[in-house]
Amino acid sequence: MRFTVAIDGPAAAGKGTISRAVAERFGLAHLDTGLLYRATGRRVMAGEDPVAAARALRPADLEADGLRSPEVAQAASRIAALPAVRAALVAFQRDFARREGGAVLDGRDIGTVICPRAEVKLFVTARADIRARRRFDELCAGGYEGAYEQVLADVEARDMRDRERADAPLRPARDAVAIDTSELDIEAAVARAVAEVDAAL
Ligand code: C5P
Repeated sequence: MRFTVAIDGPAAAGKGTISRAVAERFGLAHLDTGLLYRATGRRVMAGEDPVAAARALRPADLEADGLRSPEVAQAASRIAALPAVRAALVAFQRDFARREGGAVLDGRDIGTVICPRAEVKLFVTARADIRARRRFDELCAGGYEGAYEQVLADVEARDMRDRERADAPLRPARDAVAIDTSELDIEAAVARAVAEVDAAL
């Protein structure tokens, strides 16, 4: 079975949680495409050229420590604006999407650029203050000692960069179903996504 679920949206809207739950529920493989940009950003922070780093990326790099830090997130969103970096990461994502058994990919441009013919497209959003609060709580659980205001500023800066870049900007595909998780708990948000996939199967 070839079946692709594309899940896009801004930082900390709930894409990751929803994607993992949908993948598990339907037995699909899952790729968090943000990890490709984070792993590239991390190599660039260590002094590598962005395009060379993207081309040299290996699956093992997606398991590296420290990819979830705010510094790596900012580096990721900067190099994600470079068309040559994005181009270097397309084939890996499309190959993953075409795998036998079906796949869920989450990111910013899955429904618009990577998998424009995905069977299901979701655009997951939430208010910026709510997304920043969730990310802050997550970071604190991992030992982060910074301020909420800093996390909010980081999330807003990253969203603006992702929305305003010329190549593959963050936006819903024309045929994407929007899920606003501002007022939804995890179970309700997952149930909405599962219902969309069920309807398409
Ligand atoms: O999803 P995550 O927060 O891990 O993504 C980190 C950064 O990678 C995003 O802010 C965005 O700039 C970039 N990204 C992207 N396209 C994707 C996934 C992530 O540009 N499909």
